[in-house]
Formats: sequence, structure tokens, C-alpha cells
Amino acid sequence: MQAHDVEQKVDQLATAAMQRLQAADDAHSLEEWRVAYLGKKSELSQILRQLGQLPAEERPRVGDAVNRARQQLQAAYAARKQALAEAEQQRRFADEAVDVTLPGRRTPRGALHPLVRTMYEIEEIFLGMGFSIAEGPEVETDEYNFEKLNLPKDHPARDMQDTFYITDTLLLRTHTSPMQVRTMERMRPLAPVKVVVPGRVYRRDEDDATHSHAFNQVEGLVVDRGVRMSDLKGVLEQFARAMFGPDQAVRLRPSFFPFTEPSAEVDVRCIQCGGTGCRVCKETGWIEILGAGMVHPRVLDGAGYDSREFSGFAFGMGVERIAMLKYGIEDIRQFYQNDLRLLRQFARAW
Ligand code: DAH
Repeated sequence: MQAHDVEQKVDQLATAAMQRLQAADDAHSLEEWRVAYLGKKSELSQILRQLGQLPAEERPRVGDAVNRARQQLQAAYAARKQALAEAEQQRRFADEAVDVTLPGRRTPRGALHPLVRTMYEIEEIFLGMGFSIAEGPEVETDEYNFEKLNLPKDHPARDMQDTFYITDTLLLRTHTSPMQVRTMERMRPLAPVKVVVPGRVYRRDEDDATHSHAFNQVEGLVVDRGVRMSDLKGVLEQFARAMFGPDQAVRLRPSFFPFTEPSAEVDVRCIQCGGTGCRVCKETGWIEILGAGMVHPRVLDGAGYDSREFSGFAFGMGVERIAMLKYGIEDIRQFYQNDLRLLRQFARAW
């Protein structure tokens, strides 16, 4: 091995390495470069190990040349490494930059479903008349849904309220009326009892424009000494005016429910035509909104309020029906379809 050849080789190596370094443009290729030109198995390292084969007087010069080349490459490597790191950081800064002057993204605001809203409106009106609000179980016993409401097993009125049974004695409640009994049993012997009960009820009905197998009711119950049917009419008149407008009137028609005596169907003046007669009220000028009556003595006695001392009235209204009348919705199924075109009309702001 000639000293001159070695020096030339070192020169060529260094030049080639410096050129290749410019092509290393990420951490991986830079590391490959380092292993190739500065690693233990690199040509420079091999040359260093072979210095001993040169004549003694030439070793220092050649050794110097190799070391200078190494230092040059090491410095270039360090500079390249830093430049790559800085470029990478600049890229991240650019990627993660936030334009704080952009307008924020608005979260669309939800709104109360028209049924919930109607329920709240009804509750609000009765709260204003001194009623409390209670809620009861949707899975009810036969005893509370029927028996304690004077509807024994073979009573024909049960046919109108066929339902979904869970067992022979457990069912989905067909009305909110069982809460009349549950409330009295909890309150006795306190008086007055004045409560409204909103909640979902179930019937074995075919769904159509006016029927749903699941719908909502609000039950009302007042029990005290000396409660009269005129109190019932007064409360319902007050409710009708608050709900449908100050000129409203109510009309009681005789009816039958096993848990009230006497019983009445209650109508309000047709909201559509104001009473002159139209398609909505079938030309009668009146629209039925609820069932009501004086609590049957058997129901009172059974729930622990002695019917010789106490009397009461009760009513039950369908929330869907009231919402349909008030907001001019023609098909009950629209409440359950989640169609935003309907729901948006009840939102204050979107
Ligand atoms: N529970 C009856 C129904 O769902 C409605 C009803 C009628 C409730 C008369 C009452 C009442 O409280 O007194 O058909």
C-alpha cells in the first residue's frame, strides 16, 4: 500500500460522502449515511486499521489526513442532523398552526320535542293551580292498573284497554290512572291530595293517524273533604283557557268509567273553527280532550280515604291529542318519526 494512494482514496471518499450527505433528507437515510461513512465498518475505519502496514515515517501524515477527513464528515453530519431537525420542527409548526381569527364552529342546538314541551306546558298550568307532580311505573301490576280502579277481571271495560303482558299479573300500564291509587296510598291520611301525573302508557292498538300503541297521558287527582264536581269543571276551564286561549270553554258530557261516578267526557271549543263547525270537529264545534269524573267511592275506600269523609275528582288527558290540536299536527305518527322538518318548527333557534 502506497501512502499516496491512501491519501487519494481518503480524498475521494470524503468528496463522495459529502455529496451523498445532501441526499440524506430524513432521520433514516441520515443514519444509513452515518453507518456507511463513519461507522466501525466504514472504509475510513478500515483504512485507519491498516495504517500499520505503511512505512513508519509516512504514518503520521496519512493518519492526519484520515483524521481530518473524519472530522470534516462528523461536522457535516452534525450540521445536517440539526438542519433536518429544524426543518422537521418547522413542518410541525406549520401543520399544527391554528388560525385564531377563524370563526368558531357552532354546535347545533337541540330543542324540546313537541310532546315534551306540551307535557311541560300542561304541568306548568297545574303547578300554577297548586298541584304537585308525580311519576309512576310503566310496568304495572294488574292490581293497580285494573283491580284497584274498580275493574275486576271479568269487567267488559277491560276489553277497551287490552295491553302488553309481561306475566299474568304484570303488564304495561294502559293509563296513568293507577297512580291515583298509588298516590293516595302514599299520602293517606293527609289532605288535600292534589297531583298531576305525566307519563307513557300502552295499548294493544293498531297504529294509525290517531292511535299509537304507546302514547302519553297526564292524570290529575284531587281528594279532600267537600270536593265537588263544580271544582272539577272550574279546574278544567282554567286549564283549557291557559292551554288554548282566554276565550275557551269546556263542555262535560255524561260518560262511563269504572273508577269515577259520575263520569264525563270533556270537550273544548274547536280550536280550528272556534265553534262554528269544521272537518276537525266533525261539524260539532267541540273537540274531546279528556275523560274525568268524581272518584268512585270504592276507589277512595280501597286506597285508604274513607268515602264518607272524603270526595275527589280525577281526569286523564292524552298529551298527543292536545299537542295535535294546539299545533295543528294531523298524524300522531309524526311525533315518533324524528323528522327534523317537524321538530325544527318547535326549536327556538337552530
Ligand atoms: N284512564 C282513562 C283512559 O285512559 C281516562 C280517565 C278517565 C282518567 C276518567 C281519569 C278519569 O282520571 O277520571 O281512558
